[in-house]
Amino acid sequence: MRLFIAINFEEKVKEQLLAMIEMMRPFASRGRFVDKENLHLTLEFLGEVDEGQVSLIKESISTITQDSFCLKFTQVGFFKRPKGKIYWLGVEQSEALMIIQKELREDLLAKGFEIEERPFFPHVTLGRKVKLDSGFSFDEINQLVDTMDCSVEKIDLMESRFVNGRLTYSVVGSQNLT
Ligand code: 2AM
Repeated sequence: MRLFIAINFEEKVKEQLLAMIEMMRPFASRGRFVDKENLHLTLEFLGEVDEGQVSLIKESISTITQDSFCLKFTQVGFFKRPKGKIYWLGVEQSEALMIIQKELREDLLAKGFEIEERPFFPHVTLGRKVKLDSGFSFDEINQLVDTMDCSVEKIDLMESRFVNGRLTYSVVGSQNLT
């Protein structure tokens, strides 16, 4: 199973994220944007994991003691890649988010999971391998961010699969924040 731990967004936030994508789409000469139902923030990517280990990961997320918190967004940015840019929406510095991610990572490492040691850079991927025409303005899209925030009330263990050629994420387990 290909697994990751994520924050999934309420419908209203996914609609706001989709509105951003729809502003970019007409300017994209190539690339793929994330489907609305797949928009999320990854806390930890586990990759291929044996089914027998799922209970261990669920145990890990059940150790989270952090209260629910409010997530705020910053602005759209990108990672440069040879095949085009990965566009994402950044997330405002949040102590709660960093604590959850750090504790999860430490617990998963202690349980023997192999996790990439790269620093945590919280972001919501909007599109991959995207090339935007020069006429695109980020000012307008970034104005939308001011109106956005998101209450985080649970953390989900997610499975990623291709179903009929379509990338599909499903919730395998959840931990409610108090
Ligand atoms: P991304 O949004 O920056 O692509 C499911 O693939 C989720 O796990 C995505 O949100 C993805 O981040 C994240 N992820 C982190 N490391 C990954 C990796 N090495 N391969 C695939 N996905 C990874």
